[in-house]
Amino acid sequence: MRVSFGELRIGDVARRYLQSAVEKNWASQGENVAEFERRFAERFGYAEAVACSSGTDAVIISVAALHDFGAERGDEVITPACSFVATANAILAAGFTPKFVDVDRSTLNIDPAQIEAAITPRTRAIVAVHTMGKPCDMDAITDIAQRRGLRVIEDACEAHGAKHRNRYVGGIGDAGQFSFYAAHLICSGEGGMAVTNDPEWAAILRSVRSHGRPTGSDFFEFQRFGTNSKMNDLEAALGIEGIDQFDATFDQRKIHMNRLLELTDDLEEFVERSRQAPHELISPHAFHLVLRNPDHDMKKLYAFLEDSSIQCKTLFGSLPTQHRAFGFLGHQLGEFPNSEYIGDNGLHFGVHQHLQDDDLEFVSERLHSYFKAL
Ligand SMILES: Cc1ncc(COP(=O)(O)O)c(C=O)c1O
Repeated sequence: MRVSFGELRIGDVARRYLQSAVEKNWASQGENVAEFERRFAERFGYAEAVACSSGTDAVIISVAALHDFGAERGDEVITPACSFVATANAILAAGFTPKFVDVDRSTLNIDPAQIEAAITPRTRAIVAVHTMGKPCDMDAITDIAQRRGLRVIEDACEAHGAKHRNRYVGGIGDAGQFSFYAAHLICSGEGGMAVTNDPEWAAILRSVRSHGRPTGSDFFEFQRFGTNSKMNDLEAALGIEGIDQFDATFDQRKIHMNRLLELTDDLEEFVERSRQAPHELISPHAFHLVLRNPDHDMKKLYAFLEDSSIQCKTLFGSLPTQHRAFGFLGHQLGEFPNSEYIGDNGLHFGVHQHLQDDDLEFVSERLHSYFKAL
């Protein structure tokens, strides 16, 4: 693929940390992980960072932490209907039921105006997802949560370095999570991070990450539900390099994103694209578009771009009504119209830091060619 989602290039810093793990004959959680956690927290100003084996595990341990705050198995956790499946799977894995809320078509994020109607006596938390690096409306979400006594968890797996009112996402609610899978702004192969500014949450997250043991203990004393969600020192070696390079990666991706937005400005009549509001900084995770006219055939566009060597993905769609995995919840098509529309008419592709100007021009040319032929 000429335009992939992301590319991992392992440089000298990562090699040095990999080598140090090799020399110590140590490939589990160790000194590299501790340094990665410290550097991640420091770079983004979180009080604590807890490295995990994946972004999914970071969400699982964060949602599972709700048990410490009075939540019981089977309680409900609000989450957007349209999102990568990991968030809803994490809610199930932690012992809760996802309560889906439709998204706003222009932001792709959970629609705060529809949250209150989804709250029941069993609701314990809102897991907001900053989809495609765009911060959710955290003012509205925080306000609802405070009034209704709910916890707020921010799935920021696609939003490294995104800001809402000058605060890094992930640190606004009780806990936030990041993914370091290949397409992301920091890549450790596999890996994730749970962050929090609350020391009580941090201790619980560390405990849940290691089968509910007391924090920092290896003993077989299990205080709460837990998993083995630990990161290893080889992955952390790559992550440390990702922190070193973060600013350059972010800036280069942002340049690519802005350039492609500029090159496709005249396609505005055909597609809805990312829009950054004055109070926010969108993380350049990927370039997305949603067709304004369903007759313009997203499946055809998807195939056309893939045939042109541009790697595409859909925009996830409505988990409760367009994916069989959540059929057991009994929702009907039509209940989540915006998520369903985005599922049928949206796609995204990479704007990663290793692309060149002519790759972006190539993508724009391909898009223009598709829409001109309609
Ligand atoms: C919103 C969201 N949550 C969670 C995840 C899970 O991260 P991972 O693939 O590292 O498990 C992803 C992955 O990209 C994601 O986009």
